[in-house]
Amino acid sequence: MTELPPTLMAKGSIVAGCLAPHPPHLVYAENPPQNEPTSEGGWEQLRWGYERLRESLSKIDHDVLVLLSPHWQTYVGTHFLGIPHFEGLSVDPVFPNLFRYTYDMNIDVELSQAIHDKAKGSGLAVKMMENPDFRVDYGTITTGHMVNPAFDKPLVVISSNRSTHYYSVEVMQEMMMELGRVTREAIEESGKKAVILASNSLSHRHFTTESEVPEDMSKEHIASHAMHLWDMRIIDYMRTGQAQRILDEMPEFTEQAIAESDGGGLTWLLSTLKVPDYPAILHGYGTIIGTGNAIVEWPCYANEGDVQ
Ligand SMILES: [Fe+2]
Repeated sequence: MTELPPTLMAKGSIVAGCLAPHPPHLVYAENPPQNEPTSEGGWEQLRWGYERLRESLSKIDHDVLVLLSPHWQTYVGTHFLGIPHFEGLSVDPVFPNLFRYTYDMNIDVELSQAIHDKAKGSGLAVKMMENPDFRVDYGTITTGHMVNPAFDKPLVVISSNRSTHYYSVEVMQEMMMELGRVTREAIEESGKKAVILASNSLSHRHFTTESEVPEDMSKEHIASHAMHLWDMRIIDYMRTGQAQRILDEMPEFTEQAIAESDGGGLTWLLSTLKVPDYPAILHGYGTIIGTGNAIVEWPCYANEGDVQ
C-alpha cells in the first residue's frame, strides 16, 4: 500500500476519553474464559457501568485504544509497549486467588512510536519496550478486558512514570500535561480515530483483609466518609465540565484520598482532551475492597467541532 503524504491523509482524532479503572475483581466477577478462578458475581454496579461504556463506544467508530496504566511503573521516563504482539499468563501479585488471566493483545506500534518520538522531541525521557517476553501488567489487561473483552482492537500502552513519588504531584502534572499534548498531536497526525483510557481508581484507601467469599457484597463499602466526599467532589467536577478544577485540586486529592491519580493517568487523560469544559457521562460508580471507582466517558465526538 502506498502511503499518502501527511497533507492528503484525513486528520486523526480522539473520539472519546474514559476513566476506566482496573481492579482485577471486575474480571473475576465476570467469569470470562481467559481467567482461571471462578466467582458467583459481585460488584455489579461497576460491571453494569462497564456494560454501558462498551455500548456507548460500540456506536463510535474507532481504530485504536490508547491506555496509561499505573501498574506498569517506570522510574526512568515513560515507556511504550513496542512490538506488535504480547501474550502470556498474568497473575495478580496481591490477588492470585482472583486473577490468573491468559492474555493475547496486539499493539499499534506505529502510533506508539509516533507518541514516543514526539514526547522525546519535547524533552521527556522515553523508551520503547521491545522485549517479547515482557509481562504486561494487570492494570492494562483488566482495563483492556473491561473495555473490549475480545481484544480485537490494537492498543497503545503507556507506562506510569513515578514522578509523583520521586518528586511531587506538581512535577507529575507538568510532565503528564506535556505527554497528553503530544499524545493528541501524534493521534491527529496519524489519521486514526482513538479512544483514550486512563486506568485508575479515584480514592484508593483499601481494606487490608479479604472476606472469606471475596464477592460477598455485604462486606463492600467505601473505606471512609472522607474518601466518599473526595470521590463525589471529583465526580461532580467531571459531570459539570470542570476539568480544570480537577487539575487544580489534584495535589490535595492525590495526597488526602491516596488516589490512584498519583500514576498520572487522569492528568494525562484530561490533557489529551484539552481540559474539557463539557460534561462527562458517569456510567457507573462503586467501591472495590473499599476503594472508589468511577467509569466515566468524555464524549469528544459530540463536543469537539473537529472530530469526524
Ligand atoms: Fe490499581
